[in-house]
Amino acid sequence: MALERTLTIIKPDAVAARKSGHIIAHLEREGFEILAMKKITLTRAQAQAFYAVHSQRPFFDSLVDFMTSGPIIPMVLERDSAIVGLRDIMGATNPEQAEEGTVRELYGTNIERNAIHGSDAPETAAAERAFFFSGLEQG
Ligand code: RTP
Ligand code: MG
Repeated sequence: MALERTLTIIKPDAVAARKSGHIIAHLEREGFEILAMKKITLTRAQAQAFYAVHSQRPFFDSLVDFMTSGPIIPMVLERDSAIVGLRDIMGATNPEQAEEGTVRELYGTNIERNAIHGSDAPETAAAERAFFFSGLEQG
C-alpha cells in the first residue's frame, strides 16, 4: 500500500455542534496523520467553486447555504490508501444509510447536514488540497 494524501472538511453542522474534537480523534484513531488544518468560513463564491461539480443539481443552492452557514475545518490527511480509507470511515452520504460507527452515522443529521466531506479520487484530492492549502502548508 502507498502513502496517500486526501482532503477532509468538518462541515458547519459538526463544528457548530462542537463535535470537531470527536471527529479529529476518530480520524487519528483510524491512522490518519493531520498534515494541515485550519478553521474558516467560506464565502458563497468559494463554496460554489468547491462544489462546482454539483452546480446543476437541485440541491446545489441549499448545499451552498449550508456550507456557508458557519465555520468549517478543512484538513489535509495522510495515510496508506487515504482516499478510499477516508470514504470508508465517513459512511454513506445519507447518515440514515451510513454503516454503524462511521462518522456520518455518529455525527450526521440528514443527507445534507452530514458532518464531513472527503475527496473521492486522486485527482479531486490533489485539487481540493490545493483549494484550501498552499504547498508550503502541506509539509
Ligand atoms: P462530499 O462530497 O461532501 O464528501 O459528500 P458525498 O461525496 O458523499 O456526496 P456528494 O454526492 O458529492 O454530495 C455533496 C454534498 O451535497 C449534499 N447533498 N445534499 N439534498 C440532497 O439530496 C443532497 N445530496 C447531497 C451533502 O452535504 C453531500 O455531502
Ligand atoms: Mg462528493
